[in-house]
Amino acid sequence: RVKLAVVGGGSTYTPELIDGFARLRDVLPLEELVLIDPALDRLELVGGLARRIFARQGHPGRISWTDDLDAGVDGADAVLLQLRIGGQAARNQDETWPLECGCVGQETTGAGGLAKALRTVPVVLDIAERVRRRNPDAWIVDFTNPVGIVTRALLTQGHRAVGLCNVAIGFQRTFAGLLGVAPDRVELEHIGLNHLTWERSVRVAGEDVLPKLLAEHGETIAADLRLPRTLLDHLGTVPSYYLRYYYRHDAVVEESRSKPSRAAEVAAIERQLLNLYGDPALDEKPELLSRRGGAFYSEAAVALTSSLLGDTGDVQIVNTLNNGTLPFLPDDAVIEVPATVDAAGPAPLPVRPLEPLYAGLIANVTAYEHLALEAALRGGRERVFSALLSHPLIGQIDYADRLTDELIAHNREHLTWA
Ligand code: G6P
Ligand code: MN
Repeated sequence: RVKLAVVGGGSTYTPELIDGFARLRDVLPLEELVLIDPALDRLELVGGLARRIFARQGHPGRISWTDDLDAGVDGADAVLLQLRIGGQAARNQDETWPLECGCVGQETTGAGGLAKALRTVPVVLDIAERVRRRNPDAWIVDFTNPVGIVTRALLTQGHRAVGLCNVAIGFQRTFAGLLGVAPDRVELEHIGLNHLTWERSVRVAGEDVLPKLLAEHGETIAADLRLPRTLLDHLGTVPSYYLRYYYRHDAVVEESRSKPSRAAEVAAIERQLLNLYGDPALDEKPELLSRRGGAFYSEAAVALTSSLLGDTGDVQIVNTLNNGTLPFLPDDAVIEVPATVDAAGPAPLPVRPLEPLYAGLIANVTAYEHLALEAALRGGRERVFSALLSHPLIGQIDYADRLTDELIAHNREHLTWA
């Protein structure tokens, strides 16, 4: 008898989530689901489809929607956050202006990611505070980017929060497919920060099959990540596709200059999706949704929520406090690692010592995330500048200076202090 609320429930991603709730109802027996969003027109379309998906699959759960956050979260056992302040228009800016300085333009990595953090952290903290006032025991599951910084913000304010991303579950499914085994038999030794991770080993029945995977399928894996196979062979690990923004930074900038932003692509997909969602005959998630990046998000969300609410103690890959897991990082850093998850929250599994090639970059980006959070919480040009200067993809005063001005100019309407 579980009640969930989804903030940002009007997102075109929501049918992915609903499909997961419908298929996995034995794992998470949902009684009530509330979709919360300021955009009532989108809620109508998405909520209508959500109800039809439940009906088609014979799910008995009730689905409702509202633009009233406080009423919507009332009595919820867990609240999922999947909002995007400023929508795809703001994302389009994050992906564009950094390019003028020769820096990557991306929604979570680099200066664009900082802009997103500054817009998002204050709103998420306000929502979390209101959730806590109504339901002090509710869990907050954060899928809102940048997940590392947003989760850190929530945890430093003492919220019962866990950050979630679909990169790890995506690798688990891909590797399982290549190996011809069921996904739940594949255990990843996944390490790093959100959108800055590597798979160090891939275990099936206790045996590390990563060397075999790289030998037999290195070409396919590298092509998927758009990284050279020689890099994977050199590392002996599999970096997430977000590492491309580091390992191939200048090439990515070059390529981004001559093609539409991801935000523009997504906006076009979203228009088509909303059209489809309005069709009363549609009662399943449409194929077109697979062109968004959120594959398996629903599976990860269902698994995590059921572990938190059902006190299962099984292992999930989540964003949570470091607390000594990576000894070279502060305790209050947020890391993305496998953890046992029960009603008390995630407890990271021990991590083998990490080689300098990884530890160095992780430590650097952790410092950036600390400064980014300071800037998001306290505002001010100097704090934005410090965060940008600390970022390994920026790091020079001329860039940091210019990007600071651009960030503030493009986000003034979202920054109370600017
Ligand atoms: C992946 C990432 C998410 C991100 C999404 C973007 O799923 O893990 O954090 O939000 O990609 O997908 P989109 O379709 O919006 O480009
Ligand atoms: Mn993610």
